[in-house]
Amino acid sequence: MSVLVTGGAGYIGSHTCVELINAGIDIVIVDNFYNCKKSSIDRIRALVDRDFKYYECDIRDREGMDRIFKAEKIDSVIHFAGLKAVGESVEKPLEYFDNNVNGTLVLLDVMRNNGCKKIVFSSSATVYGMNNISPLTEDMAVGGVTNPYGRTKYMIECILQDLYASDNSWSICLLRYFNPIGAHKSGTMGEDPNGIPNNLMPFITQVAIGKRDHLNVFGDDYDTHDGTGVRDYIHVVDLALGHVKAVQKVEKDNGCFIYNLGTGIGYSVLDVVKAFEKASGVTIPYEIQARRAGDIATCYSDPSKALAELNWKAERGLEEMCEDSWRWQSQNPNGYPD
Ligand code: NAD
Ligand code: UD1
Repeated sequence: MSVLVTGGAGYIGSHTCVELINAGIDIVIVDNFYNCKKSSIDRIRALVDRDFKYYECDIRDREGMDRIFKAEKIDSVIHFAGLKAVGESVEKPLEYFDNNVNGTLVLLDVMRNNGCKKIVFSSSATVYGMNNISPLTEDMAVGGVTNPYGRTKYMIECILQDLYASDNSWSICLLRYFNPIGAHKSGTMGEDPNGIPNNLMPFITQVAIGKRDHLNVFGDDYDTHDGTGVRDYIHVVDLALGHVKAVQKVEKDNGCFIYNLGTGIGYSVLDVVKAFEKASGVTIPYEIQARRAGDIATCYSDPSKALAELNWKAERGLEEMCEDSWRWQSQNPNGYPD
């Protein structure tokens, strides 16, 4: 089996490429390197025993994508490529809709023209919106998303469902990720955000190495066990292994399948801070700030459908997520080399 991995040089994509090759699956990476360094490709290569090809190409480049499909024997696609910063999407909605939604439309059209109708898509728990009560299940109403980034995920889910309804020879898997953190055990691959991190774990690790002097905790008056926001953090390697199962599913069965990829366990911001301090031995100074616009109190998955249908469940706990995030950050204080 040969899988085209769009965005395969990024954070989740790179970890998934390693696990795909470990599972005996061939890969071809397409990335425009907009949000990652080329050295992440070398780091993937160093961890696997088989070579693979990568193409520098934007998924919106129809001719370029068509050439790749004609040059390679592609059985299925795992589609990570996209822009993902919530705040930036509010400032630049046209860029987000163009990159994420238009990029996906071009990809799907090129796939169809080349007879490839199997795709696994990176969706997000953000599609559950503000009103559903956790644990979140796949059959709950989605939509009501509060920012352009989240809307692109919701819109792409709708597009893929409409595509399947129009032609049920497609095999489509929508994976709704909860909060990926952690890094590869080797300490050679991890999350390398540009500028000031938006997400909790990269911010904590940058405080720990001294790049930032304290963590801002957004709100301590939520209805949670300690007042801070509760999320379902999942180790990126568990998430990667979920993609191996999902791509095997689309290889085998036609349909449009939806799965949560989470642990089913919610931890608060302060739980994560404490776990990180224990794992790293470094104290994380923090200050309580006002709530962040658009945040909800509690968001965690019911992951039982993925267990029942994909035979997948997250195995790595919060302690391991913190240890691995810290190993990556402390061994690579400036992220990937240029
Ligand atoms: P990332 O930015 O590290 O990876 C995305 C990759 O896609 C990058 O390497 C980037 O250069 C590439 N890319 C972007 N636009 C492209 C284009 N037009 N053509 C070709 N390549 C392009 O992000 P990630 O954290 O690995 O996320 C992967 C996917 O998972 C994204 O679609 C993201 O929205 C989704 N997701 C991420 C999270 C998270 O917390 N990280 C949560 C839910 C969903
Ligand atoms: C955010 C996005 C979501 C996206 C996900 C993964 C928002 C509103 N949601 O989810 O759409 O899919 O990232 O990219 O941006 N926190 C702090 N201090 C910080 C950073 C975060 O206290 O410096 C808190 C947040 O308030 C939240 C928790 O930590 O309670 C997790 O935040 P974050 O890592 O940004 O993830 P989400 O908000 O769940």
